Amino acid sequence: MLRTINTLKHSRNTVAKQFISSSQTRTKYTLPEIPYEYSAFSPVWSTEIVKNHHQGNHAAYVANLNATEEKMLSFIKNEQLENLSELHKLLRFNAGGHLNHTMLWQTIMPISAGGGKVVDGSLRAAIDREFDTVEKMITLMNAKTASIQGSGWGWLALNKLSGSLELITTPNQDTPNYYGYLPLFGIDAWEHAFYLDYKTNKAEYFKKIWQICNWAKVQSNFEEAMASINKV
Ligand SMILES: [Fe+2]
Repeated sequence: MLRTINTLKHSRNTVAKQFISSSQTRTKYTLPEIPYEYSAFSPVWSTEIVKNHHQGNHAAYVANLNATEEKMLSFIKNEQLENLSELHKLLRFNAGGHLNHTMLWQTIMPISAGGGKVVDGSLRAAIDREFDTVEKMITLMNAKTASIQGSGWGWLALNKLSGSLELITTPNQDTPNYYGYLPLFGIDAWEHAFYLDYKTNKAEYFKKIWQICNWAKVQSNFEEAMASINKV
């Protein structure tokens, strides 16, 4: 009996060590750079709000994601698996915050660089089929995003099962992936994304954010999402 227990313990340690070892070979998560100046999104977002959002909010998600990973690995290494449950919420929150904001910076561009200009392609055709026009889709998505109570995101997303375009919201920093969707473009409805510039006028913020939408990137997100569900 003792031998059986020792064998189990050895096996558990080996698995834990292998996991730790493979995890330690990769670098920490880092804050991605925004390929524009912080001032480039005026008049939709001020320099101050973009800088705070990137260096303050997004950087905190990255730091907390790394800290959570370290704690998780330590609990696994020290065979304190019961403590992992405390970290699930932190992992979901900070991993989601990092993913959502990484997509945000990729899907916006200054007006002077072509922000807000809808590109012709398969996404526009799909939007027209589903919502009649891009303008109607934007109105619906803004209304849906405005209905969020508390903090969250509004999304144009692809339903992984049906392959259809849908407008959804997610609470806190949940990504659409948690709910069976692939994100294409998100509106950050957290106060930190608008309050400095718009105070409580969220509706104005939702309307203006489309002026800096990088539609070419959203189109490529759509193509990648369609390709990935067609592979399933
Ligand atoms: Fe944000």
